[in-house]
Amino acid sequence: MPTHPLARFFDRVDDVTAEIARREAGGVAHSAAVDDEIAVCHPKQLDLVVDEVITETATTKTFRLRRATGELLPPFQAGQYISLRLQIEGVRTSRAFSVSSSPTKRRHYDLTVRRVPGGRVSNHLLDAVAPGDRLVSSGPIGTFQHNPLFHGEDLVFLAGGSGVAPAMSMIREVVDRGLPRTLHLVYGSRRADDIIFRAELDQVARDCPEITVDHVISEPDADWSGPTGFLSAAVVERLAGPLRGRMTYVCGPPAMYAYQLRQLDRVGHPRRRVRLEANGIALPAGEDRDWPADVDPTVEVTVAVRGRGAFRTPRSRPLLDALEDNGFQPEASCRSGECSMCRVRVVRGGVFTAAEARLRMSDRDFGFTHSCAAYPVTDVEVDF
Ligand code: FES
Repeated sequence: MPTHPLARFFDRVDDVTAEIARREAGGVAHSAAVDDEIAVCHPKQLDLVVDEVITETATTKTFRLRRATGELLPPFQAGQYISLRLQIEGVRTSRAFSVSSSPTKRRHYDLTVRRVPGGRVSNHLLDAVAPGDRLVSSGPIGTFQHNPLFHGEDLVFLAGGSGVAPAMSMIREVVDRGLPRTLHLVYGSRRADDIIFRAELDQVARDCPEITVDHVISEPDADWSGPTGFLSAAVVERLAGPLRGRMTYVCGPPAMYAYQLRQLDRVGHPRRRVRLEANGIALPAGEDRDWPADVDPTVEVTVAVRGRGAFRTPRSRPLLDALEDNGFQPEASCRSGECSMCRVRVVRGGVFTAAEARLRMSDRDFGFTHSCAAYPVTDVEVDF
């Protein structure tokens, strides 16, 4: 057998190629088996049924979803999300929701949804979706999961509101698998009755020495005796101890990110030890400090989609939302600038792209942007 070109990098490459050859000679279609495995782990679409709707707080529900076929759901890692694809009042759109259930449970995914004022998708789910309803989603996706090789086993998780969902999944996994991992959750809520999963979190913290939970309330009632305020550097270090050397996860409403990064900078916590799960773009158009000072975000511009039509939209509307409002559908998943699935090419005109968009150098060079994080500042023409 000829030597494989990778043999000088990997000690056992000859053994592996010999095993592949042996299986193929025995009638095993190796690539077909791999394709089957990929289809199980990374399906393009999941057809789901709402099994149960659990009321968590006055503004939050958990939707327990099972696979319509009755099969196991694809494996996922705690911290990942699925992107629900919906049609609401004639507009086809999508939203990413972190899975809050444990990756050890593959009969269902739990999605924990909090009402967002004016939130088209969250309000639709909370008000109109009931057990027995069918939903469609992507497979599990995202990079917010814990990687023990790079992140160590001593974690601090700073959560706000429904940003506790991926923390809950991580905590449930630690408990279910008995992982040798310590996780300190510092969880900010406006009021005590806004705390999601409070009973379970407090029970786990009592039973499991690896898990510590602190609730921080920003608008406490008179009977709240715990920590108050926001998750400032001082509050976080007082509760969780020094952050030095510990991987810090941050998940919450978009407005939380800039504040939290400033606080972590203040105690010298390096960015490489911070992992963010952005549930959207941090700042609305016009409030981003890089937004051009002479561009009024309320003014309407024309967006043309090459060869397919045009519409008017305010500059403040993210390009992806504006396209969906008008019947166009770029592919999308994270809606927070990260995954690049909503990439469009700006053929003519100018857009403001928020810093969250992780544009590749080649995207910049060839005029592509991530439409979920881009705002049209002039009349534009896009292509996708
Ligand atoms: S949808 Fe992921 S980058 Fe826009």
